[in-house]
Amino acid sequence: MTSITRLFHLTHNIFTRYPLLEVARTALHEPRLAWAYRRRSLRVPSLPARMMIDPINLCNLECPLCPTGRHITGMTRSRMPYDLFEHIVNLNPRLRILDLFNLGEPFLNNDIFRMLSLCRKKKIRTAVHTNLAAYDTDWVERIIETPPTRLHISVDGASRDSYVLYRVKGDFDRVRRNMDYLSRRIRETGKGPVVEWAFLYHKGNRQDIPAARSLAEKLGFKFFVRPLVVPKHLGPEWHDPETLASEAVSFRANVVCPHLWLQMTVKPTGALTTCCFAYHDQDESASLAGISCPEQLLELWNSSYYRRGRACFRTESTYREIPKPMLCETCNIYPRHGGLDPQEHPYDSTIRDWM
Ligand SMILES: C[S@@+](CC[C@H](N)C(=O)[O-])C[C@H]1O[C@@H](n2cnc3c(N)ncnc32)[C@H](O)[C@@H]1O
Ligand code: SF4
Repeated sequence: MTSITRLFHLTHNIFTRYPLLEVARTALHEPRLAWAYRRRSLRVPSLPARMMIDPINLCNLECPLCPTGRHITGMTRSRMPYDLFEHIVNLNPRLRILDLFNLGEPFLNNDIFRMLSLCRKKKIRTAVHTNLAAYDTDWVERIIETPPTRLHISVDGASRDSYVLYRVKGDFDRVRRNMDYLSRRIRETGKGPVVEWAFLYHKGNRQDIPAARSLAEKLGFKFFVRPLVVPKHLGPEWHDPETLASEAVSFRANVVCPHLWLQMTVKPTGALTTCCFAYHDQDESASLAGISCPEQLLELWNSSYYRRGRACFRTESTYREIPKPMLCETCNIYPRHGGLDPQEHPYDSTIRDWM
């Protein structure tokens, strides 16, 4: 047992004997995490309140700009078994918000409802992104019975022709049936998730936005419109020149990367990784399958793998010497390494949403 683990066991025993101290520690949890993020500390004082656990990285569709849809190799295809999920959730007593999706269609994992049910029991808020195209209304009924807190539906069109331009292999009629059913059953039962319809637009489906917006209103869904994110060299294929010039069509966030401090990301195999953009096995760190307590999880959260990632955001010369994990070193989403002037690169003002 390392000295850090011993120290954690000692403090854990003290807090268990004196519950008021535990209340104080819980109250200080969020400010301490926020402080570590703002200072870009290499070590984080406690486990994150937010995690992303990918239940599956297989999909029924072939969206042309998604690593899963493009069948990019270098990523082990897998489905998380329920027991592994339960084990991971139990390892983090601080967990309050769970993103239960990443690189696949979550409802293709038959255990998803048991997973959602466990989260509900543990009062963990959940978000699931789905294409609504992998199943029929009997499955939607199960979503009503055991809903995530937020159900984000990815439907990029209000007509068959424009929908399939990005959601390749998607059956628009089936998706529409599922949307109608979802809306009707939420109204009838007063149960179910908050539904957020996210419409990714490109030059082939923009004309559908007004119709989609009014349909969302009729169905009682929230409605969000965002540009389809495209790699630079494919920009003209998907967007007209005005959109490319004026709108955020690339994943660029002018903030210090919050993932490394505020959200732990887990692959369907149970392997830890830096963030939701990691889709090669080589970007993975340790597996959570073999660890047995929160103290060990915290040790992993502060392992050299994460400390190196966090060091990408430090300017001091000592940190420049630290070898960086490949993904953070080459990431072009968050600005990194040196020269990070807090005036120019503010911290993510939405960090409260992460905790
Ligand atoms: C990889 S998907 C997995 C969940 C589910 N299969 C779905 O599509 O909603 C996660 C999110 O990425 C979004 N996404 C996929 N391709 C995208 C792109 N090129 N630009 C922006 N978001 C994209 C999806 O719409 C979804 O909200
Ligand atoms: S539906 Fe989701 S996971 Fe499947 S290919 Fe499209 S974006 Fe990727």
